[in-house]
Amino acid sequence: SQNRLLIKNGKVVNADGIEDADVFIENGVITQLGRNLIIPGGTRTIDARGRYVMPGGIDTHTHMELELMGATAVDDFYQGTKAAIAGGTTMIMDFVLPRKGESLVEAFGNWRRKADPKVCCDYALHVGVTWWSDQVKQEMTELAKNHGVNSFKMFMAYKDLYMIRDPDLYKIFEHCKELGAIAQVHAENGDIIAENTKKLLEAGITGPEGHEMSRPEDVEAEATHRACVIANQVNCPLYVVRVMSKSAGDVVAAKKAEGNVVFGEPLAASVGTDGSHYWNKCWRHAAGHVTSPPLRPDTETPGHLLDLLASDGLQVTGSDNCTFNFDQKKLGRNDFSKIPNGVNGVEDRMSVIWEKGVQSGKMDPSRFVAVTSTNAAKIFNVYPQKGCVAVGSDADLVIWNPIKSRVISAQTHHQAVDFNIFEGMECHGVPEYVIVNGRVCVDEEELKAVHGFGKFVPTPAFPPYVYDQVDAREKEKRPQGVTRGPNDEDYSPEHMNGL
Ligand code: URP
Ligand code: ZN
Ligand code: ZN
Repeated sequence: SQNRLLIKNGKVVNADGIEDADVFIENGVITQLGRNLIIPGGTRTIDARGRYVMPGGIDTHTHMELELMGATAVDDFYQGTKAAIAGGTTMIMDFVLPRKGESLVEAFGNWRRKADPKVCCDYALHVGVTWWSDQVKQEMTELAKNHGVNSFKMFMAYKDLYMIRDPDLYKIFEHCKELGAIAQVHAENGDIIAENTKKLLEAGITGPEGHEMSRPEDVEAEATHRACVIANQVNCPLYVVRVMSKSAGDVVAAKKAEGNVVFGEPLAASVGTDGSHYWNKCWRHAAGHVTSPPLRPDTETPGHLLDLLASDGLQVTGSDNCTFNFDQKKLGRNDFSKIPNGVNGVEDRMSVIWEKGVQSGKMDPSRFVAVTSTNAAKIFNVYPQKGCVAVGSDADLVIWNPIKSRVISAQTHHQAVDFNIFEGMECHGVPEYVIVNGRVCVDEEELKAVHGFGKFVPTPAFPPYVYDQVDAREKEKRPQGVTRGPNDEDYSPEHMNGL
């Protein structure tokens, strides 16, 4: 029956290792794992010989049906999650983005009302904080305490729309820390981008190449560094969304090595393609790649970000799926700064990371599972419900055939959007079966996603001490027994001599 499922003979991959084991699922939950399981009659069996059985992907970053820059993203919560499942992702994390002055709690409720009836797989919500006030502070508390939100995202770019300045960032980070929440940042210097954009447009550079020129790598790395510094002042865990450049990735890895609690999320886009496309002669093609921070024009960036993912300098991958069709991208036909920002990736992220990560030999299947699923579950506090193949965990699984390959194309993808930034890319690793809460939603490569089958998954706040490593390190560095700085009386004559 639909309720019982046995997956036999596969290689079960978790972030901490691989084992030959069978998996038994009952009523949406994994109830037995190992060999010689006791299987009741009426159980469907899937033979996974030669396949990897992995936790379904968790896409940490999507914007389904988002209204942005005068357009509404065409992949909605139904089609977006259906496409996610087709590619082996069984949970998404979307962003509530309140309008200026709107109540955060109300905006959150509106997002739930959009998503709940449509989602084919489970989902969680991050909440954008795009201005600061006492009311915002209270509403963050309300969301963390009573609505299952433990992540708040701040934009350091999108001046006059979402941008938050340093003093407010400091206060918001401080409040995140108090709540046991994670602060997320879109790290780009919005003031510099605004100046550069003016200059470029005045000089007659209006095409998509102006998008990257207005916000080069340094502009991302500077903001990434600044966010790390501010978060560390208040000992707040920081999560840098969509790391797009070598130097920004290096900043995250270096700050982590120093003891900051910081996580970095490159995208399928940032490891699967590059910014040379902004110079493509076809305007639609170039505009199809416009996203912020931009893809980088050099060819080394994807490999560099993958190396950081493999070595734990970076930890998670998302898609930032935010898709606009040609007619919507055309809003910026004469001005690159008006091209709605966003690319696809929710369907192809798993394949792209597998191809560039595992097939290339940079990471093993366990690290793949870590960066596509387990680390996200841990960081956002839904582990081990999600992110692992274990007794008691939700039966969100993908049965992955590493021998088969497929070619990505907008002609065959399941997304609503009319363009695919990975067009023509051959990817090894095909999700032959995708199991969502125990239901087979990709069955021998046939998509059978169910409208509204998914549910909201609360991400509980952490106890604040979980992320206290930075404090501990700082205390170790202080001289023993010193409890205050010097007072005026502390000046000793030797030190005054030279004055
Ligand atoms: O290009 C992007 N990222 N569009 C969506 C909005 C955002 O910045 O996340
Ligand atoms: Zn084209
Ligand atoms: Zn985004």
